[in-house]
Amino acid sequence: MTAVRIRDLVLEFTGTTTVRALDGVDLEVAEGSSLAIVGESGSGKSTLASVVGRLQPRSARIVNGTLEVGGVDVLALDAGGLRRYRRDALAYIAQDPIGSLDPTMRIGRQLQLVLSAMGDDTSTRRQLELLEAMQIENPARVIRLFPHQVSGGMAQRVAIAMAMCRTPKLLIADEPTAALDSQVREEVVRLLFDQARAQGTTVLWLSHDLPAVARWCDEVAVMYAGRVVERGPAQAVLGQPVHPYSRALAATDPSRARRGERLASIPGAPPMLHGPAEGCAFAPRCPARIEACATTRPQPAVTRHSLCIRTEELLAQDRQEVIA
Ligand SMILES: Nc1ncnc2c1ncn2[C@@H]1O[C@H](COP(=O)(O)OP(=O)(O)O)[C@@H](O)[C@H]1O
Ligand SMILES: [Mg+2]
Repeated sequence: MTAVRIRDLVLEFTGTTTVRALDGVDLEVAEGSSLAIVGESGSGKSTLASVVGRLQPRSARIVNGTLEVGGVDVLALDAGGLRRYRRDALAYIAQDPIGSLDPTMRIGRQLQLVLSAMGDDTSTRRQLELLEAMQIENPARVIRLFPHQVSGGMAQRVAIAMAMCRTPKLLIADEPTAALDSQVREEVVRLLFDQARAQGTTVLWLSHDLPAVARWCDEVAVMYAGRVVERGPAQAVLGQPVHPYSRALAATDPSRARRGERLASIPGAPPMLHGPAEGCAFAPRCPARIEACATTRPQPAVTRHSLCIRTEELLAQDRQEVIA
């Protein structure tokens, strides 16, 4: 079963200038699986995640495409349908854990409200149970605290508890660990994926952390300038990337540098599109570009989902290098 199906999704922000944040996204996520969306800042990850939750800002206009979650046409939902969708199917974890909680309310009270909205047991015992499942020490103390009184790691555990107690079908986590230090980051990611696996929740995880993606996710989608330029099994795509952008991104992965390879960063920055990219949006930064890249809009290659007109050639070069 497909949990999320996106076809040729185009989204523009309208204002003094038009910004095309999604330039034709195609994506499928299997039910109960985890998909990471990776790419530099500005590639459209948050915009894509926000539309899946119908949480995009008012200035966003869907220009084209379809979006289905669990077979439901999310873009067509009316107010009532949208409320039910958000309550029954969806959970969202934001980047800033403390900011995502209500600053005026003790943590216990916030848990109580979530449980009550679910028609669940709202007792203190149930609240403590949720926090214990997140390996929070001394939960009896934590439920009496306000969000600003806990650490970022603790707040993110609380946010995960609040998201997962509703047994969502789909969890969207937008760089949930970006603000945390590395030790805490690993624990929070582990908790998130353990909970999701236990409940069969489909996970859409936006991340910069490629080693963690390879470790925890089934699939990965590499985004650039509002398109998914490569997608496939996480370990294959990150271990042997095909698209020149994925290759460049994987080469910036610090864990590779630790294994003795050169730590590269990609010169230049992603473009801001104001309309459809005519050719390949990565071409100006691409070491493998040819003249046609400026004018030919790449379509998925047959052997591997990579939006590069030279995919078959690059794969053949790889095979040669292995033989040589
Ligand atoms: N509310 C907005 N109004 C106008 N442009 C936006 C808005 N949000 C994002 N953008 C633009 O859309 C593009 C994609 O941004 P975003 O989805 O935040 O990327 P990412 O999450 O990968 O960093 C960027 O060019 C960004 O400047
Ligand atoms: Mg973002």
